[in-house]
Amino acid sequence: MPRILDGVAIAAEIKREVAEEVRTLAAQGVRPGLAAVLVGKGAASEIYVRNKVQACADLGIYSDLITPLDTVTTEEMLDLVAALNDRDDIDGILIQLPLPHQVDAKVLLDAIAPSKDVDGFHPVNAGHLLAGRPALAPCTPAGIIEILKRSGIPIAGQHAVVVGRSDIVGKPAALLLLHQNATVTICHSKTHDLGAITRQADILVAAIGRPGFITPEMVKPGATLIDVGINRINNREEFDRYFAGNTKREAAFVKRGSTIVGDVHPKAFELAGAYTPVPGGVGPLTIAMLMANTLRAAKLRRGL
Ligand code: GUN
Repeated sequence: MPRILDGVAIAAEIKREVAEEVRTLAAQGVRPGLAAVLVGKGAASEIYVRNKVQACADLGIYSDLITPLDTVTTEEMLDLVAALNDRDDIDGILIQLPLPHQVDAKVLLDAIAPSKDVDGFHPVNAGHLLAGRPALAPCTPAGIIEILKRSGIPIAGQHAVVVGRSDIVGKPAALLLLHQNATVTICHSKTHDLGAITRQADILVAAIGRPGFITPEMVKPGATLIDVGINRINNREEFDRYFAGNTKREAAFVKRGSTIVGDVHPKAFELAGAYTPVPGGVGPLTIAMLMANTLRAAKLRRGL
């Protein structure tokens, strides 16, 4: 039986450690603060941002939720970022993506002070990551490393294959794995004979954004599968393609009318040595690492 890597438990452990450090800082009169910017009411990402704000409250981190109207302009958003860059009570700035089409996300993310860029998206932090200097790394890739390390899964010398080359997950995940001395291969939509490469993976990171993309014949038996995908499926035919015979999933699907499948086909998990489930694998780490980055930013900015 493959081992299930419990992201909820690992995230809880990291949050406990962050809360502990936040208490230590409080004794020195320092309180880390996060500004969460969510453009527009009723956006699909509202729930994600609320969870981030709630995590701050749980850990003793100050948070300020800012919700500009969805008619906001790039200039107005730049003014907001400039004000947040200047605020001493704010250590981290998170601008939830995606943004409305009239807002130039690139210009905006580049305007965030690198020292407050807790998403790790700023080119300066991307550069620090490439150079192997400790700075603020993107949360989901950092969470992948935490899952592997805290589960005692060896990384050094292993062949890690990352499928997906996004700036937010694939590329930074590959760099972090490289810094842990993995042998890293990055694959993407133009890769020839993808399965021949994924079958060599001791650690396979699936960050493609396509439901069930990694099928059993693409997996080396005993590999560790890290599934970053969050794909909602809401029709019966699709459900059966992934979960036929899974009575527990079926009950949840019938009740809610939808369920989530990752980028790894559930049948492929059966071959794994260990895997992160969806939901409850990588997802919870993203918020935990955001909290860790906010704490880190607060300390770095004060030279602690
Ligand atoms: N939208 C989806 N994932 C993320 C993330 O990690 N950070 C931000 N800011 N927006 C997102």
